[in-house]
Amino acid sequence: MTKQSIILGIESSCDETCCAIINQNGDILANIIASQASIHAPNGGVVPEVAAREHLSAMRPVITEALKQSGLTLEKINGIAATGGPGLIGGVLIGTMTAKALAFARNLPYYAINHLEGHALTARFTHKLEFPYLLLLVSGGHTQLLSINSLGKYERYGTTLDDAAGEAFDKGAKLLGLGYPGGPAIEKCAKTGNPESIKLPTPRQQYRDCHFSFSGIKTALANSVSKYSGPIPTADFAASLQATISSSLINRSEIAMERFASSAARNNKMTFVVAGGVAANKEIRKNLKSLAESKNFNMVLPPSEFCTDNAAMIAWVGMEYHMIGKKTEFDFAPKPRWPLDQKASPPPGRGVRL
Ligand code: KG4
Ligand code: ZN
Repeated sequence: MTKQSIILGIESSCDETCCAIINQNGDILANIIASQASIHAPNGGVVPEVAAREHLSAMRPVITEALKQSGLTLEKINGIAATGGPGLIGGVLIGTMTAKALAFARNLPYYAINHLEGHALTARFTHKLEFPYLLLLVSGGHTQLLSINSLGKYERYGTTLDDAAGEAFDKGAKLLGLGYPGGPAIEKCAKTGNPESIKLPTPRQQYRDCHFSFSGIKTALANSVSKYSGPIPTADFAASLQATISSSLINRSEIAMERFASSAARNNKMTFVVAGGVAANKEIRKNLKSLAESKNFNMVLPPSEFCTDNAAMIAWVGMEYHMIGKKTEFDFAPKPRWPLDQKASPPPGRGVRL
């Protein structure tokens, strides 16, 4: 490791083209995000082919902008990191090839980063957090509970059998005619609604494990909506949907906290990190915080700009591997699926989301 190491990171696994530059102290020297949200909004979700084309045109300007923001040139960069999966393959390919080309041309080490590891280690640069800690990752693509033990050692307690929590918000919002992305729209609409008025089943409550399932909520919501012939009480539906998703996150997190606390080699400082776009939801945050307090966990919420997809988290994981001299070979092939915990057994039932 050189005295002052600086890593440039690229993220392009979904609908944001991002580039960030970070140093080994975790200082963000640049953080650029080009969002495609408005392009995908009319379709009510991300269209992979459209996303890939947008990444292609945004990649170069985003990198140029990041270098400009940092006041650095490529000569000052010590390594290039890029999301190598999991994610939409078109975007991951574009980010990977760009990173390899930059690294090869400048004779720099290249780091292929697992996108989930980016989310998992964000609190290491935002809060200088030590290992181990418990992580709830709740986004539009993932809903997972993981024990983050040390660099590269992650134990997956649970994942979703079908949809992610953010997807449940997005699909629910579409059904209620509230637009995309659904999470913020549902949260806003839920403010004037009664969460008790419409009964939606909390999924998998009877199972004492940490796996999630959200597709049934969408079906239950659709069934309830179809019973109305006139206008529907949208705020009540939004409030019920939010409360049901929240209660699922709470009861799975509670089981995970008990499991984390009972593992050997824990000191009494237990930390619960919540990351991903859904963590922006105030009601969910409030409920998770009181759960954490009741279980003697200190809850850490990285700032929202680093909770949602960004390249700073990718650059940081690159930095962690750079500091231990573990680079990636140039023949790395992007991985649409890339579980953080290779030994995790698949969740029961149909479908596995990694
Ligand atoms: O982490 P993220 O920005 O992107 C990935 O999916 O990787 O998460 C986006 C998801 C979307 O599904 C969006 O509806 C949800 O996070 N979300 C929210 C809120 N803000 C964003 N869900 C509930 N409440 C919110 N306030
Ligand atoms: Zn993500």
